[in-house]
Amino acid sequence: MILPIIENRWSPRAFSSREVSPQQVKTLLKAASMAPSAFNDQPWAFFVGFKGDGSWNTIFDTLADGNKVWAETAPVLLMAMGRKHWLRDKTTTNPTWKYDLGQSVAFLTLQASEMGLWVHQMGGFDHGKAIQSISIPISWEPVVAIAVGYLGDAGQLPPDLAALEKGPKKRKEFSNFVFFEKFGVSDNRFEE
Ligand SMILES: Cc1cc2nc3c(=O)[nH]c(=O)nc-3n(C[C@H](O)[C@H](O)[C@H](O)COP(=O)(O)O)c2cc1C
Repeated sequence: MILPIIENRWSPRAFSSREVSPQQVKTLLKAASMAPSAFNDQPWAFFVGFKGDGSWNTIFDTLADGNKVWAETAPVLLMAMGRKHWLRDKTTTNPTWKYDLGQSVAFLTLQASEMGLWVHQMGGFDHGKAIQSISIPISWEPVVAIAVGYLGDAGQLPPDLAALEKGPKKRKEFSNFVFFEKFGVSDNRFEE
């Protein structure tokens, strides 16, 4: 059995207006910071906005229109950013910076799941706008905006998005991503 916090997690669009406290966000960020990273370089940073403050508005303004429609009710918005070069050697690119950042966001997401909070990551945002409005240095790159909050009611969404909210969780079969002997070669060892 996989962990319930993994099994039951999904990316909602309907967020309730219930507040998420700074202490809860601090816990999520602490979990993110516990992720492994190459040479323990920790090439991640998070810009934090609580609904009603300027930082939340800054992140919201960067979002693609399709994300703005539902992210509007999220009480917390984050912008996850990665440092492209090593901390100890600013002339060399860290080839796994984005991978490491992704792991930290995964840790944050599962911590949220354990705490009864919900997370929806968004690659759909204006990167140039984010860089400018957050004053992100040249060696850093914004990668995902993240909505955090409690689950709302699907009825608050436009009908097309409400339908997605209830959709089944679609995942690839093992034969598509578990290989033996050579890439692309699968057998029925792990068939479910
Ligand atoms: C890097 C990344 C970018 C994503 N960008 C968006 C986005 O811009 N808008 C959106 O609605 N969902 C976005 N998602 C959410 C995915 O669509 C979602 O995780 C995927 O369909 C699997 O569904 P689940 O998270 O509910 O299991 C993104 C997820 C990731 C990890």
